[in-house]
Amino acid sequence: MRFLLHALVAGVLVLLSPAPAPAAPAPGSLGALAATRGITFGTAVNADVLSTSAAYRDRLGAEFTTVTPEDAMKWAVVEPVRGQHDWARADAVVDFAVARGQAVRGHTLVWHTSLPAWLTTGTFTTDELRGILRAHIELLVTRYRGRVTAWDVVNEAFDANGSLRRSIWLDRLGPGYIADAFRWARAADPDARLYLNDYDIEWIGPKSTALLALVRQLRAQNVPVDGVGVQAHVMASAQLSQLTRTLRRFAALGVDVAITELDVRAPLPTDAAALAAQARVYRRAVEACLAVERCRSITMWGFTDAHSWIPAGFPGWGAATPLDAQYAAKPAYTAVQNTLSAWQPPADAPNGWWWLDDPAGVTAYDASAGGRHVTTEGTAALGAEGRAPGVSAYGDSGGGGAATAAPVVRTDASYTVSAWVRLTGASEARVAVSQDGPEVSGFYLMYQQYSDRWEFTVPSAGRLPVAWQTAQASVVPQRDVWTHLAGVYDAAGRRLLIYVNGTLAGQRDGVVSWPATGSLRIGRSLSGARFAGRIADVRTWPRAVGAAELRAVADPRVAVWSLDSHTGDAGPLGLDATRSPSGVVWAAGRTGTPGTAVALDGTGWLDAPGPMLRTDQSYSVAAWVRPADLSGYRVAVSQDGAVRSAFYLEYHPDYKRWAYIVPTADTTTGGWQTALSASAPAKDAWAHLVAVYDAGRRQLRLYVDGRLEATVANAVSWRAHGPLRIGRTAGGSQWVGAIDDVRLYPAALSDAEVAAL
Ligand code: XIL
Repeated sequence: MRFLLHALVAGVLVLLSPAPAPAAPAPGSLGALAATRGITFGTAVNADVLSTSAAYRDRLGAEFTTVTPEDAMKWAVVEPVRGQHDWARADAVVDFAVARGQAVRGHTLVWHTSLPAWLTTGTFTTDELRGILRAHIELLVTRYRGRVTAWDVVNEAFDANGSLRRSIWLDRLGPGYIADAFRWARAADPDARLYLNDYDIEWIGPKSTALLALVRQLRAQNVPVDGVGVQAHVMASAQLSQLTRTLRRFAALGVDVAITELDVRAPLPTDAAALAAQARVYRRAVEACLAVERCRSITMWGFTDAHSWIPAGFPGWGAATPLDAQYAAKPAYTAVQNTLSAWQPPADAPNGWWWLDDPAGVTAYDASAGGRHVTTEGTAALGAEGRAPGVSAYGDSGGGGAATAAPVVRTDASYTVSAWVRLTGASEARVAVSQDGPEVSGFYLMYQQYSDRWEFTVPSAGRLPVAWQTAQASVVPQRDVWTHLAGVYDAAGRRLLIYVNGTLAGQRDGVVSWPATGSLRIGRSLSGARFAGRIADVRTWPRAVGAAELRAVADPRVAVWSLDSHTGDAGPLGLDATRSPSGVVWAAGRTGTPGTAVALDGTGWLDAPGPMLRTDQSYSVAAWVRPADLSGYRVAVSQDGAVRSAFYLEYHPDYKRWAYIVPTADTTTGGWQTALSASAPAKDAWAHLVAVYDAGRRQLRLYVDGRLEATVANAVSWRAHGPLRIGRTAGGSQWVGAIDDVRLYPAALSDAEVAAL
């Protein structure tokens, strides 16, 4: 009560004596540092706290160059009763910001939630509802014209699987509501930048790819979409390794990008390690924005732990902002400061990078800073299945290709080119990557049918006749298997090297290379020699990349969760796992290994963002486990089907053995194929489990501590489309104890490969 009174008095005082508005931002503040980078830095503003707390106002005014009303412009707030508008909160935030020269991001015009009851429960015809939405948009955008410089026009339009989210808008107005909303907003304020805004698009997956496709489609239809906002509500255990790439992918469509709702939550209570992890995530987010030319601003969803939506929105989590509840700087604040002032782009990054996992269409985006996108032609298509479910690739039957408009590689100096390829048709020469010279290509990273080998070839000159200078790989190419190729031209040593799956496989000395100044091509050469099969993750570097680095680029794994105080994926696809808010702690790893493990108490778990393995094809799952309880089914790793998991890598209480179990079908009535360990699991002891489904041999194999302990013959496996889970099944059989170093392979590891892990 006393507090309330106090707050009330303070609020009245504020209203009576508006603070003199010093020009934001103060020297050394995040806003000032960001300005030197050409971006704005801001926060969501809680309008109620703004009106009651001087500390909040002072910091807000001094620190930031952009603000977003956290809730004050949401429909339920501005029009709680039909036709009765309440602008007090929204006006307060806008007035505060405008007085200090801060930009305002308007949030949000169309959303599935925070809608007034009169709207959600009213009975309206479709036309009435469309008219209501239109009037709402026109009213807000017109009211704040010239003061709100960017609007989140449509918020959270997608589901996790990439389909449009069911909402009153989609259900009643159809998907056209999105284009309509943007057009209405543009008409109401031609100068405001209009954004689509969403969460869980910080990495590549069905949702961010669907959003990308939508933006491209809207732009093609001249719908006025100016930007994509990446919310970035993330966990301190995230890695954000794909954020730069994601932002670039959107920016490549010709739109601005922004980080719009950054916060980094941690399970409560936090400790120094959690705050350090959080600081790293903040740093990564800022780096990603700085690395992308069209990233315009970074907005945090609150700046002090005293006022953050996280504890209410995610029970058990909190401490998500860079200032603690007393406004003291946490490590995250310093990390943001340092990054804004000192970050430089990495000098050794690829100068061309085509993941080729773009949505269907003819354009594949360059994820490097170079911005040289490729266009497909002929029978080549994007959207073929890539190395993991949900990650697509370039595919061609042998009648197409893809090319940049300008050269990428300077071929008379050292360079490297790499690609994942999956060769289907081997009846002709098949070129994976090349770059045009006048009559021949400057290089060919290719399959050569005469020798039945992979080769990296540089012709002696740009015009015929030429001598072919070839580094030929010694290994026989495998059909229909994803294979990593890299070709290196070392100008100083005048030699060509070819690497297959990260291993040096061939060399040619005394090579002269000349400048080939035409297009870089994927899937063909200048003269044809089209690739039949699939291609993914093509990279180029303006230097001779060394063996160790190429081994890392050729990482065959589709996920690597080291669980070293984070659930990020250190593998090439960067598919971070998420963890439950409770029931999970970081624990000591195996003796002699760096980093932590994760310890689950029987209620906690970790989930991948989707299916990670094609379980109807060969795969391998490796994990270190240390059971703390053997009284029930204890599932270490599984991947969801509809009613069963595709596999259960677990402790089986009846047999008292490790078990790798594959149901014969995704039905409740099917049978079980069970590989049981010979050795008996010991409580509180580490064991290394590897489950292998070998589709070629129709085998299930279970390895314990590197030894093959069980084989099931004539095995069948089916495709599971649900998420991969660590420490549980969808049905709830949970792990109790520690888990570490979970690794997934889209291939059947051999006995020798397992022993070498
Ligand atoms: C949140 C606010 O922070 C809370 O105060 C409110 O109760 C619910 O909404 N994505 C968005 C924001 O776009 O509008 C949400 O804000 C957080 C998630």
